[in-house]
Amino acid sequence: MKTIKSNFVIALASLCIIMACKEKEHNGTEDLKVEKENTLASEEILYRPNYHFTPKVGWMNDPNGMFHYNGYYHLYYQHYPDGNKWGPMHWGHAISTDMVEWKEQPIALYPDDMGYIFSGSAVVDLDNTSGFGAEGQVPIIAMFTYHNMEIEKAEGIDVESQAIAYSLDEGLTWTKYSGNPVIKNPGIRDFRDPKVSWNKEHKKWIMVLAAHDKVMFYGSKDLKSWELLSDFGGDFNKEIGTHGGVWECPDLFPIPVKGTDEVKWVLYVSVNPGGPNGGSATQYFIGDFDGTNFTMDKNFSTALENNHDYWIDFGKDNYAGVTFSNLTSKDGGKFYMGWMSNWEYANEVPTETWRSAMTVAREIKLIKDTDSYRLAFDPVDEIDAYKGAKYKKENITVDGEQALISSEKIDLSRAAISFNIDDIRSHSFRFKLYNKEGDELSFGYNGTDNNFFIDRNKSGRTGFSDTFSNKKSLAKRISGNDNLSGTILLDKTSIELFFDEGSTVMTEIFFPNTPFETLSIETLNQDFVLDLLEVNQLNIN
Ligand code: FRU
Repeated sequence: MKTIKSNFVIALASLCIIMACKEKEHNGTEDLKVEKENTLASEEILYRPNYHFTPKVGWMNDPNGMFHYNGYYHLYYQHYPDGNKWGPMHWGHAISTDMVEWKEQPIALYPDDMGYIFSGSAVVDLDNTSGFGAEGQVPIIAMFTYHNMEIEKAEGIDVESQAIAYSLDEGLTWTKYSGNPVIKNPGIRDFRDPKVSWNKEHKKWIMVLAAHDKVMFYGSKDLKSWELLSDFGGDFNKEIGTHGGVWECPDLFPIPVKGTDEVKWVLYVSVNPGGPNGGSATQYFIGDFDGTNFTMDKNFSTALENNHDYWIDFGKDNYAGVTFSNLTSKDGGKFYMGWMSNWEYANEVPTETWRSAMTVAREIKLIKDTDSYRLAFDPVDEIDAYKGAKYKKENITVDGEQALISSEKIDLSRAAISFNIDDIRSHSFRFKLYNKEGDELSFGYNGTDNNFFIDRNKSGRTGFSDTFSNKKSLAKRISGNDNLSGTILLDKTSIELFFDEGSTVMTEIFFPNTPFETLSIETLNQDFVLDLLEVNQLNIN
């Protein structure tokens, strides 16, 4: 009896211990859950951009399939909704009425047996050349790359092929074409990112895609059957442009030279790695396209050989950008968006709920300079409509470091700043954004070596990658003007710098421990005058 009783006591005691442990374990899991929720909530407040597009949840990379139709701008994007790192690619979708405020839509394209849905483009088939539209319907056709993981794992060569899908409800829902793929792999491992546009002069669709170390041009009358026209780019031995890695995400479009009737063709090619400041970046070529071949302009080709500085952005975080397929400004300019990250660290940046944002939409112009042509970029005018509180100061004499404005006046994590220095000479200056934690982001111009720069070495959380902030990013100043002006777009985790009327652009991301609160300017030169500073709050949701 005694033993039974003592056994019972022991059993009861053990049960209590187990239950206490379970309780503790439960509390431990609860605590972890709460801690995780708090981290995600603070990430949301600290890092979710105020006005740059991010998906609500999941991974995002390249912009895809951008077009404009019936009052809406459409942006699709490489997306993995079930994870925060690159994975099985879908096309996510967002729409906007002004290219500034974007609203996320249901996913447009899902991966299937033929593969992941890689980058591509979309066109409005006004004349129903594809025959997908019934009476009175204008079909939208998307062309994308199927990337087949089974073939990749088996180390096959024909991993990538081109396919199409059509939408009869203005880009919201899509049906994949039963005759896919429309272009089979020709024996090239990297064969992707088709960019289609309508060629008015030759009355056909032209498509350019990236094929390892070159681009290939195709033509079609109906978007279903495609004929190879030519290629451009050469190989690793006979380099045209930069070949630090494979070529990706090309684009081809005509554009008038600003202020003239002359029209030139622009060919974009992203390359990864090989960018001017490391990792991913997008180079461009200027020339002519006769409906079959792209030939580089002679002066451009010489300028390129002498000095390869034809990049659409010199910052580390603007990749795989392309233009809206059917959109031109009243002066014939094109509209562009890029992915604001870099393959060097895109999968590691310190956000968990979502990863990556897009640049603001930018208008592209072509300018004739002394030796050749050059592209220039401006944030789209539509952003101006969101300008709220304004701070303007002229004729600021700077001696050493001087605070200019703080977030009490204007929220510096949603701001557009313009500045002007009438006479830069060989002076140097740096703007500094900082917080009480001691995090700082500095950017400006070094007159001694004639470089613009961004330095994010002390900008907060940088340790997730060895190459995120180990070097300053530099861009040679092209303009020889006495006057130096610029526009700066600030968000919680990004800066976009447009120097000298957009002829040099630098875009970078950063992750401060608390928001940046103050903007200052510093110079070591005597007689330095900041002739104009205008700071506008951007009230974009
Ligand atoms: C560019 C890229 C494309 C490809 C896509 C895959 O960033 O590598 O070439 O289609 O991303 O997500």
